[in-house]
Amino acid sequence: SNQPLIAPSILSADFARLADEVAAVKGQPGRGADWLHVDVMDAHFVPNLTLGLPVVRSLLATTDIPLDCHLMIENPDRWAIGYAEAGSYNVTVHVEAAGDPVMLAKNLHAAGAKAGLAIKPDTPLDPYVDVLKHYDTLLVMSVEPGFGGQKFLAGVLDKVRAARSMVDTGHLNLVVEIDGGINAETIEQAAEAGVDCFVAGSAVYAADDPARAVEGLRRQVEA
Ligand code: DX5
Ligand code: ZN
Repeated sequence: SNQPLIAPSILSADFARLADEVAAVKGQPGRGADWLHVDVMDAHFVPNLTLGLPVVRSLLATTDIPLDCHLMIENPDRWAIGYAEAGSYNVTVHVEAAGDPVMLAKNLHAAGAKAGLAIKPDTPLDPYVDVLKHYDTLLVMSVEPGFGGQKFLAGVLDKVRAARSMVDTGHLNLVVEIDGGINAETIEQAAEAGVDCFVAGSAVYAADDPARAVEGLRRQVEA
């Protein structure tokens, strides 16, 4: 795989101080957050409610860190495009919620964004290999989506390994991303399985210095 990407999740940030919290993971050039992971939840696809397009627009205006929007929402076929049009770098939708994931990827690309497909821990990868040919990122969930601070589910690493080998053999062209329970204790096993991009919420924002926490995670997985 390529040089690792670290994507702090603002789900664990102080939402009353979002601009400061985003600035806190910027770090030194090339050492801070590569992507800013933004968890959009609608209280229907997952049992939690976070933020939506108005907050994403404000984030886009306040930072030059590329936004990685993770939409844990129903009917992404209707709503995802707005996040792409607003200027998000990558927009990830859940395969369990998407009606027509191939069309959705094409629409995201037409709006100028990368397209990501997320799979929950119990969702198999095999049925979606052809769909994934249309996507730029695969987000393997390593907790049940909905909340930060949960325990890492190592069983999902089999799907990471399968995706890694399809990328390495040229069958797919994807950034393999993992989300949930990534911290100093779990990140190395995820890297060994073939993850390219590591989302970390509580491990970054519970730290006294979030930018240093990002650097620490990066140091654990860079070659
Ligand atoms: C959970 C979200 C994650 C969350 C991860 O549904 O998708 O991005 O922020 O939080 P940690 O890193 O604390 O598990
Ligand atoms: Zn997420």
